[in-house]
Amino acid sequence: MNRHGEIVLSEGKGLRDLGGAPGQLVGLNIHALTLAFTPLGSIYERVQAGEAIAERLQVADRTLDIRAEPLQSGEGDFDGFVAVATDVTDLDVAGRALVQSQKMESLGILAGGIAHDFNNVLATILTVAGALRRSPALGPDEREYLETIDLAARRGAEVAGRVLAFARGGTANLIPADLREVITEVANLATPALRRTAAVRTSIPPEPVVVECDRGQLTQALLNMVLNARDALPRGGEVRLALTCVGRQAVITVADNGHGMDEATRARIFEPFFTTKPPGQGTGLGLAVAQGIVANLNGAISVTSSPGEGTTF
Ligand SMILES: Nc1ncnc2c1ncn2[C@@H]1O[C@H](COP(=O)(O)OP(=O)(O)O)[C@@H](O)[C@H]1O
Ligand SMILES: [Mg+2]
Repeated sequence: MNRHGEIVLSEGKGLRDLGGAPGQLVGLNIHALTLAFTPLGSIYERVQAGEAIAERLQVADRTLDIRAEPLQSGEGDFDGFVAVATDVTDLDVAGRALVQSQKMESLGILAGGIAHDFNNVLATILTVAGALRRSPALGPDEREYLETIDLAARRGAEVAGRVLAFARGGTANLIPADLREVITEVANLATPALRRTAAVRTSIPPEPVVVECDRGQLTQALLNMVLNARDALPRGGEVRLALTCVGRQAVITVADNGHGMDEATRARIFEPFFTTKPPGQGTGLGLAVAQGIVANLNGAISVTSSPGEGTTF
């Protein structure tokens, strides 16, 4: 751009991304442009005042790295400027995804370490409670207390196990398995956990549906979803576990007719440690773990839910 604010050189494919053509700006005045791209207006003013600029700007849906240098005439007056805008939108998105995956990785390592130590503590509690239970001197009250200790420690160990599964993420043991058996196992495992008012109903095809998967991990993932469904059914209801095949893909559905969730909750459910449950009842890891496990199988989890309408994973 020369000292009159007239553009004398305009090149590069970045313009095309903004809906223009290279060279299109030649002959135009900067003032016409800055009206269209307001953030550029303030850059122009600063460069005119002699400042060299290097900054990142959002123009429409693009992220641009802008470098601008004022040019000076022999007498030291403003003599136009040179500006280069590099479109870094895609780099930016990739960068953010990388930061997110690194965060998840360090979270996994941290969580795995804690879960491991936690498991050792719980193992001691369970062993000692087991030994005490064999004592003939115990009265009925003490026995009941011991049962409570035992139950709480087991629940803690379950949580630690889930954290470990989440932390391990990457080491699935893939073996062909009939998903019908996995579904039946999940239903059997879940039944005692469902209060008498809620029921699990399964629907499976007559033919085997064999996929390579880590059976233990997949069971864990589905169980997490079934237990969430139970929690969404405080006054009872039904959890439906269904298996179907769509082309070469197996689709497992976990549906409940519980209280559902609003959009704000739905947007966060896969975040580790996001929970809407009271302390002691929710870890916020169930779906983060499930998502990790399913992603390992090259699968994906989607969800539909609305308040009062139930939830389907
Ligand atoms: N079937 C469901 N119905 C309603 N809300 C659900 C359901 N499944 C998950 N959620 C919501 O997602 C949150 C996160 O679930 P999860 O990761 O399993 O952690 P937690 O169960 O420990 O809270 C829950 O606290 C709940 O708000
Ligand atoms: Mg859960």
